[in-house]
Amino acid sequence: MAFFSDNTIDNVRSASDVVEVIGSYIPLKRAGLNFVALCPFHKEKSPSFNVNPSKQIFHCFGCHKGGNVITFVMEYESLSFVEAIRRLANRANIVLEEVQSEQQGQLASLKDTLLKIHEQIAQRWHNYLLNEEGAQIARDYLEKRGVSSDSIRQFKLGYAPEAWDDTVNWGKSKSFLPEHLEKSGLILQQEQSGRYYDRFRGRLMFPICDDQGRVVAFSGRILSGDEKTAKYVNSPETPLFSKGKIIFGLDKAKRALLDAKTAIICEGQLDLIACHAAEVKNVVAPQGTALTADHSRILKRYVEEVILCFDADNAGQNATLRSLDSLLTNGLNIRVALLPSPHDPDSFIKEFGAQAFRDKVMEAEGFFDWFLKRLMATNDVTADKGRVAVIQAMAQNVAKTNNNTLIDTYAQKTAIRLGVSAEATRKDFKKYARATPSLEENPEQLETETVATRPNQQEFWLLKLTLQRDDLVEWVAAHLDLSWVNHSLVRAILAERFELEGDGNWRGTAAWMSSLEDDPQRQLITEAITESPNADAEQILKGTPTRLGVVQLLRNQFLEIQISENNRQLMAPEISDETRLRLLMEKQNLRTSKNSHLVPLSDQY
Ligand code: CTP
Ligand code: MN
Repeated sequence: MAFFSDNTIDNVRSASDVVEVIGSYIPLKRAGLNFVALCPFHKEKSPSFNVNPSKQIFHCFGCHKGGNVITFVMEYESLSFVEAIRRLANRANIVLEEVQSEQQGQLASLKDTLLKIHEQIAQRWHNYLLNEEGAQIARDYLEKRGVSSDSIRQFKLGYAPEAWDDTVNWGKSKSFLPEHLEKSGLILQQEQSGRYYDRFRGRLMFPICDDQGRVVAFSGRILSGDEKTAKYVNSPETPLFSKGKIIFGLDKAKRALLDAKTAIICEGQLDLIACHAAEVKNVVAPQGTALTADHSRILKRYVEEVILCFDADNAGQNATLRSLDSLLTNGLNIRVALLPSPHDPDSFIKEFGAQAFRDKVMEAEGFFDWFLKRLMATNDVTADKGRVAVIQAMAQNVAKTNNNTLIDTYAQKTAIRLGVSAEATRKDFKKYARATPSLEENPEQLETETVATRPNQQEFWLLKLTLQRDDLVEWVAAHLDLSWVNHSLVRAILAERFELEGDGNWRGTAAWMSSLEDDPQRQLITEAITESPNADAEQILKGTPTRLGVVQLLRNQFLEIQISENNRQLMAPEISDETRLRLLMEKQNLRTSKNSHLVPLSDQY
């Protein structure tokens, strides 16, 4: 992966005016010093999305998204940082100098070649399917399966001719090296003769695209009822393709995922194509496997919730359960849409229609309700052994949420279903919860929690002051002890701002935005900057706050807490005289500090 120097990033950013760039995506209206618009990231009726030209940032007071021009393009177009830089550089006619080691350079050029091979063979197979005599069998098959010509074109379906050397010969004619075709997974080498032969022969070809819509692999389905070969043959792992990281259909679902905030997950390519044809577009398919941690992490960029809609068979239901851990770890809400056996989304839509499918998705129940039902159906709950198994499986899996309310709720539901004592079941659930190692702590969830608790008015005011007035940063850094600040995000933001100032590395707010990975931190910063300078001044300190007043107040709040802790210790029943003396002296010092002026009166201004 290429990366860029700070200098390059700065150049691209300064050539991309935030008002111009955002204004090219959505209409902006001037409002005082800022520009406003209806927020593109959430639904709203009156504009709370602000663009600040002087600081080159944006912030939405409705959904709290905020950042600079680069993060806007990343969010709006769902691009990675590198992709966003490329897009903006392109727009500003800047030639990017990519810092690249020789090894990286080689890999990049290999990948470029493999991408070219994939793109061209996909086109060839697609044309073959549409036009050639030899593909009649595939066209008949698609007609029988009810795949429309629109779908065939949208998903660029193809047909790989029934031959051992079609791709081999095609590659030669295009002057691709056999080694490259082999690395692309399209051909293989016979061990004894060293001869190359095609991997995909006489199959209906589904191109698999990355999130930008570039073909990176293929899945090929047999057409005959021939049971001797696998139903699907897939590309192997290649420098372009790793099955656990690519989700089929993501490139075509992005916008719909962002709008719906929910992803419907089905198993296979044909399911997904049937969904699209039924106008259900927020759908992706991990291609017959459970969702991996990477899949979940990628999905989390687009949605808050997934609805698992796997096949009604055992394999599908097991994949549902196996997706649990990675989804929970990534903080995604999980529901399960249950189709009647033996259906999958494709066959269900064919039989009952699009509306019936949408209803099933709407009715999808919470993951643990589904799981409890499944356990009840797969265990003999008339026997002790079966009941114990249900309790154990429920308890162990709910414990992974690390959420006491959920644990308690499902203990109760399980007890009711089994007709056993709720109290005993609760105890069992707690026992299993303690024994179950919780999933890796989820940073995203922690972040949302911190954002959920707002900083108090004084701390927010101080943040505004520090971030809006570059000329005051030094003063605040000199007078504020960060331990006086309660809110962890505010503390972290101030600490970083002070450090940048102290090291002489301050390059302006917009530059700072790009170095902050953490969303909540960025959001709080853009909010503090965008909010008008003294919006809440009236309420603070029941009068106009002075920076000295606010810093002093924070200090005193901090000291108050120390004093009450000191009091608590003094009241403890059995403390030694020595400790009492020490505590009393400490209290005296705390009181003196509290009464002292932060800055000698003579120096105040
Ligand atoms: N799959 C695979 N290799 C197989 C079988 C299945 O990669 N040998 C993947 C494919 O991505 C497939 C998905 O698992 O789409 C679901 O498998 P299955 O339900 O068997 O296939 P369907 O998609 O339902 O295909 P069809 O309707 O044509 O049977
Ligand atoms: Mn299926």
